[in-house]
Amino acid sequence: MKILVLSQNLQFVKTVDLNERETTRAIRDAVVNEQLAVQQYEAIVDGTSNAKVKKVLQEIADEERVHIGELTALLKTILPDEEKHLEEGAKEVKEASTKLKKSAMYIEHYRQLVKKGNPTTLDQEFVQAYRQWSLGKISAEKVRDLYKKFPIEDRAEAV
Ligand SMILES: [Fe+2]
Repeated sequence: MKILVLSQNLQFVKTVDLNERETTRAIRDAVVNEQLAVQQYEAIVDGTSNAKVKKVLQEIADEERVHIGELTALLKTILPDEEKHLEEGAKEVKEASTKLKKSAMYIEHYRQLVKKGNPTTLDQEFVQAYRQWSLGKISAEKVRDLYKKFPIEDRAEAV
């Protein structure tokens, strides 16, 4: 008979011989519970005006975050592909962040050009490309290529 190990019953883990899959599932479950603990402590921190309670509970919440790091590191030692997947996720966030920065840069440059009274042909091309891109009609590469044609001193500051 198989024993289902629930997160609330982790004390029973020692009574069963978990295989690798079950072990990693139990650890992931522990990560979830650490996350819930962080949420619970931070909700109290945000909800109380008692400075001592705020301080102590935020420290506890931060300790739980350390536990999340420990459990995650442990998973990486058990599962050979865990790090690869986590790094892939981190890379995707970084790329999204870079895209957002670039978008903010294009928007700022667009605003500057619209304010400018006497647009050059390049200004007009960029404004038109920016509008097309913001409507999803052309790729960001087209806008980026035009943006690169402006002298560096005319480009918007990277946000
Ligand atoms: Fe913890």
